[in-house]
Amino acid sequence: MQQNYTDGFFNVGPVYGFLPQSLPLSVLPETYTGLQELLDKMPVQLDAEHFGYLHYPNKIVEAVDQLHNYIDAVKVEEDVSIIQALFRGYSFLASAFTLESSFQHYRETGNYGKARNVLPIQIAQPFVAVADKMDVYPWLDYHYAYSLGNFKKKDDAAGLEWTNLEMCVRFSGQPDEVGFIMLHVDINQHSADLVGSVMKALEAVAHGETENVEAALDWNMRTMVEMNNRRREMWKASRWQHYNDFRVFIMGVKGNEELFGDGVTYTGVWDEPKQFRGQTGAQDDIIPMEDIFSGVINYYPKNELTKYLLDLRTYRPKCIQQFFIDLEKEVEGIHHRGMLGYLQEQKSVVGLSRLLGILEQIYHFRNGHWQFVQKYIMANTPYAKATGGTPITSWLPNQLKAVMQQMQDVLDIIASLEIEMDETTSSIVTSNQTTLPQKQKLLEEQLVMVAGEQFSAEKVFDLNDKFGLKDQ
Ligand code: HEM
Repeated sequence: MQQNYTDGFFNVGPVYGFLPQSLPLSVLPETYTGLQELLDKMPVQLDAEHFGYLHYPNKIVEAVDQLHNYIDAVKVEEDVSIIQALFRGYSFLASAFTLESSFQHYRETGNYGKARNVLPIQIAQPFVAVADKMDVYPWLDYHYAYSLGNFKKKDDAAGLEWTNLEMCVRFSGQPDEVGFIMLHVDINQHSADLVGSVMKALEAVAHGETENVEAALDWNMRTMVEMNNRRREMWKASRWQHYNDFRVFIMGVKGNEELFGDGVTYTGVWDEPKQFRGQTGAQDDIIPMEDIFSGVINYYPKNELTKYLLDLRTYRPKCIQQFFIDLEKEVEGIHHRGMLGYLQEQKSVVGLSRLLGILEQIYHFRNGHWQFVQKYIMANTPYAKATGGTPITSWLPNQLKAVMQQMQDVLDIIASLEIEMDETTSSIVTSNQTTLPQKQKLLEEQLVMVAGEQFSAEKVFDLNDKFGLKDQ
């Protein structure tokens, strides 16, 4: 793999992982004061006593009418941190402007109403100009806009735990929005270790150093355990009953025709309406990297949902897309059979057990995540489309099945090798042997439940509890 996956903002590797290489700018430079003031006054709730533009029907339209078109200033910007902060600002503004009407309708009726689908020229032109400079789609994304490029520390001396983070730009202004998205950053503080372990493992494979491969797999597994620990903080960081306070603002256009019709028209840029996907955690890099590295991608079902995952690759910074392409090639190139094939050939039960441990953590990530979806989304709203525009009930179980199939294969290979195991290795293998059939049964029973007319998130939770897999 090449050593350099950077665009000047992200720099994928063992030092920064998937986080930016320096803290994002928290405010725009003075030239853009008008835009910055609008963003500052925009959130539904400004503080305990004051509301912002989004609280009042149509007020955002009045504010945008007064906004200067910064296209000339934007065109000459060259500093990547300013361009990123501008992209973030215009992304928030475009979503707020279009989706404010859906939000007001939701407040009145409990259903999302139609969004505005014409962006005025003073948003459209500079927005598309900065998106072109970054080589991304002009819509709120996960990396540069909503999550990884949108955090600041409350206390500079403290770390990246969600409790020490604030959003630079926000929609609802409520703590639940901040906790929700800042926890994604928090989890990613460990991505440097995760990327480091992947690179170390591949390097060791290239040199045929099996002990170092095993050590790197162990490091990867332990990092995933830590990430899952952080992920479970979601239940505290953002109360599920409050997810709808901000969810509507992160909807994408593609896949959400009920809200946007044919798409969004960018005045002064394109004559035809455009459709881009919405920001979603599915644009995060941890699980996709682990899927490629461990080989889960070879087990993905061939269906529309897998296509969606691959489509989402194009919604990432170019340097991260390139990292995934190279990683996939490198992993496939390991004796043409991936990590699993290498470990089998080397008869490395230690390595296979750690691979199993990694898969178990991917399982926990996805099963816990599936519980998020049931509580934060399905228990809260009858609208069956996710922010990324996918049919949520049929989405995540597919990938859970893929992980469990590979776990079964790894267990079968370990059994066929008949090699004596040390205590740690044996405990990873034995516990997975015992629990895998339960996990498979749990998924089957849940799928029957979510397919029924009378879906109840509580019952799904009770079932997870029964199998000892409740995530809270
Ligand atoms: C309350 C918390 C969360 C909710 C309600 C939620 C919701 C969803 C939904 C509805 C999808 C379906 C696909 C789509 O339309 O984009 C999805 C996919 C995904 N999310 Fe989340 N998410 C949450 C937290 C997270 C976190 C913390 C991460 C990682 C940092 C994450 C990573 C992913 C990934 C990788 C996928 C792709 C599916 C897969 O590979 O299994 N999500 N999420």
